[in-house]
Amino acid sequence: MKVDTVRARFEQTAFDYDGLIPRLIPYYREQQDLIIQLIPFASNDRLKVLDLGAGTGILSALVLQAFPQANVTAFDMAENMLKICQTNLSAFGPRLTLQQGNFAADDFGGGYDLVVSGLAIHHLDGAGKQQLFHKLFNSMNSGGILLIRDIVTGATPKLTKQYEQLWREYIKGCGEDDAAYFQAYLEEDIPSSVEEQIQWLAAVGFSEVGCHWRYLNFAVFGGVKQ
Ligand SMILES: C[S@@+](CC[C@H](N)C(=O)[O-])C[C@H]1O[C@@H](n2cnc3c(N)ncnc32)[C@H](O)[C@@H]1O
Repeated sequence: MKVDTVRARFEQTAFDYDGLIPRLIPYYREQQDLIIQLIPFASNDRLKVLDLGAGTGILSALVLQAFPQANVTAFDMAENMLKICQTNLSAFGPRLTLQQGNFAADDFGGGYDLVVSGLAIHHLDGAGKQQLFHKLFNSMNSGGILLIRDIVTGATPKLTKQYEQLWREYIKGCGEDDAAYFQAYLEEDIPSSVEEQIQWLAAVGFSEVGCHWRYLNFAVFGGVKQ
């Protein structure tokens, strides 16, 4: 993984991220609304939550709002993303903890009831994802749930190409430079198919593994630790 390249990109784009990302990712807000709906806990449960690759804290904020007794660790390697996260989520006070690190190499703690991760894990290759899924499984409590939204490939190279072309049209239609973003994607991102990621989640021990939503090369999927 080109960790330094990825980190540099997010250090640079942090200040524009929140406005830009829905113009790059189709159904961005619908994906995160679904993630919140899929969380099976009562609203007053005292949850320990990890937001992996939290960025500016968009998912963390939604979890903290929906679960007023939850505490969230926002874990990310980009200092500027975490600075924006701290500013945007200051109203949540000590319920939010920021932790800077590389989730492929560093410790992100344990005892989690809920792990969410948005658009971050695709920066790891297949072997890296499998190792991370194992680490996530070990970081979670029994009864815990993992919910991931990410960029994925199609089930075949032809489908991947078709999805990528439609994705570029979406970016262009939003007035953004699809060629530049697509080039960065080719250089920095290492998406895997939903089908293989679901197998990897089951292989490390997750149950109730499934793809909850999909549109072209974007998916929401995850599993439960029983
Ligand atoms: C596209 S942003 C996603 C932000 C937010 N989760 C969302 O759903 O919009 C990806 C974030 O993942 C972080 N990231 C990527 N690889 C990482 C790694 N190995 N360790 C920690 N953070 C990582 C980046 O720094 C960036 O802030």
